[in-house]
Amino acid sequence: MAGRLLAVSDLHIGYPENRAYADALSPGDPGDWLIVAGDVGEVFADVGFVLASLASRFAKVIWAPGNHELWTLPSDPVALRGVARYEALVKVCRRFGVVTPEDEFPVWDGAGGPVTVAPVFTLYDYSFRAGGAAAGDAAADGGGRAAALAAAGRAGIRPVDEGRLHADPYPSAAAWCRDLVTAAERRLAAVNGPLVLAGHWPLVRGPVAALRHREFAPWCGTALTGEWHTRYRVRAAVYGHLHIPRTTRYDGVRFEEVSVGYPREWGRRGAAPPPPRVILGPE
Ligand SMILES: [Fe+2]
Repeated sequence: MAGRLLAVSDLHIGYPENRAYADALSPGDPGDWLIVAGDVGEVFADVGFVLASLASRFAKVIWAPGNHELWTLPSDPVALRGVARYEALVKVCRRFGVVTPEDEFPVWDGAGGPVTVAPVFTLYDYSFRAGGAAAGDAAADGGGRAAALAAAGRAGIRPVDEGRLHADPYPSAAAWCRDLVTAAERRLAAVNGPLVLAGHWPLVRGPVAALRHREFAPWCGTALTGEWHTRYRVRAAVYGHLHIPRTTRYDGVRFEEVSVGYPREWGRRGAAPPPPRVILGPE
């Protein structure tokens, strides 16, 4: 078998069954690359350990953060918040050779290549809320969050990031998100040739329509990335976060939701989570 570009997300290794799944992930070919599109887990040291061990097995591991990696839980000895937490995760990844959104984008030269694999960190700005705010408008900060929280409250929903994911030193996740999107756009514009984009949050609003509770949508992405799949030469857009694994197309571009999800979720579909999705590989 020739090498493949594989992708998985939402390993949520805090669950023993999921940790066992992550520990058992191994390449089918020595040339396999693995994209890990966020939500490995919450505990800093555990996230680093699992990414490092994956990097020792796969030819290359490419990681983008999810919201859970960015949580600062009182039980975690690593109390870093916001940007400092992200930068510390990047540092751990670099120590073990895991590619992050801050690194030079690697080029997949195997079957289906050459294709640049770009991990992206985009976060959210509440613009996916019902009715939809204009991307990046002034209300996307205080107003967007307040409206999203009010709608969630009316629906009896508790947005899990609130109080756990901190944006320091930014005043809000929306402000951090805007800077992340601007920085990513600068880098993506400089890429020649086709791309696989790999991030945690969906780049387009379409997938959030499948959420059981639409009130979670404001925490699921940003309208600022809504044209990336057509603006850049995107061969496939890998994401997770929604825990609704599937393949869809928007404007003819392949989107792959590659989440494992919680045991109660994958347990409804089978005795074990499926293997990582093949993004590129031999026909
Ligand atoms: Fe998740």
